[in-house]
Amino acid sequence: MKIFNSKIQISQTIVNLKLKGYTIGFVPTMGALHQGHLALVSQALRQNQVVIVSVFVNPTQFDKKQDLIKYPRNINTDVALLKTVSEDNILVFAPSVDEIYGHNVSSSCFDFDGLEHEMEGRFRDGHFNGVGTIIKRFFEILKPNNAYFGEKDFQQLQIIKKLTEKEKLPVNIIGCEIYREPSGLAMSSRNQRLTKHQQTDAAFIYKTLKDVKMMFATKSINDITQWVSDAFKKQPLLHLEYFTIADINTLKPAQTKSSRITYRAFIAVFIKDIRLIDNIAL
Ligand code: PAF
Repeated sequence: MKIFNSKIQISQTIVNLKLKGYTIGFVPTMGALHQGHLALVSQALRQNQVVIVSVFVNPTQFDKKQDLIKYPRNINTDVALLKTVSEDNILVFAPSVDEIYGHNVSSSCFDFDGLEHEMEGRFRDGHFNGVGTIIKRFFEILKPNNAYFGEKDFQQLQIIKKLTEKEKLPVNIIGCEIYREPSGLAMSSRNQRLTKHQQTDAAFIYKTLKDVKMMFATKSINDITQWVSDAFKKQPLLHLEYFTIADINTLKPAQTKSSRITYRAFIAVFIKDIRLIDNIAL
């Protein structure tokens, strides 16, 4: 498996692969890989001849310096995990911050038609400008045909679709289903920080979302929202940051149901200082 640190070298390699007629899949990650990432890589390998996995902890998408410092980094473990999927046809791109940003470690300012102001946008200042900046830069360097994003970060997925549409970037954005632990907990690099006991408690998040999905057929959005808030009050170790039922296209919170709109329920929960997000199609 080839590991590249230089953008010029990887882009030259990609030009040569494209000349041979290969299609390029791209799975962007910040490392700390888990089975959810590997599922994205497997899907990308089924649909492309070559898959690039970027491992880059993007400084501009962190609103808290401490989170950036604490973010787990272990390229050797990440590469070993990728090798369990395939020894061939995967290129790893692990550039330094300098290689990507030079001396100007800052984000561009994007207009994602309001998608950036909902949910995560209300709690993570500047986050989506950072994500937009790095993804646009990666697309320009790597020129993938297809790029794969997990639906766990559904808002991010919609924002990347908006980015490619508005900036006319020639990449297909493919959303992939949420990969879950046997308990139902959505896979996330942050789960590594949960104790066994906290992992058991965290399973309540998906259990609640499944109950919400059932209730959505008969109950009003107000009643469901109240029910979720009450349910979390009975969980002393879990702190509900937000629960929202939203239109999947605008991500605006819904008050009433319309048969012409597709909805999803979104949730963010703290267990101590560990923040977990999840969502479900309704
Ligand atoms: O979802 C992530 O891990 C990051 O936001 C991404 C897409 C790799 C950009 O840094």
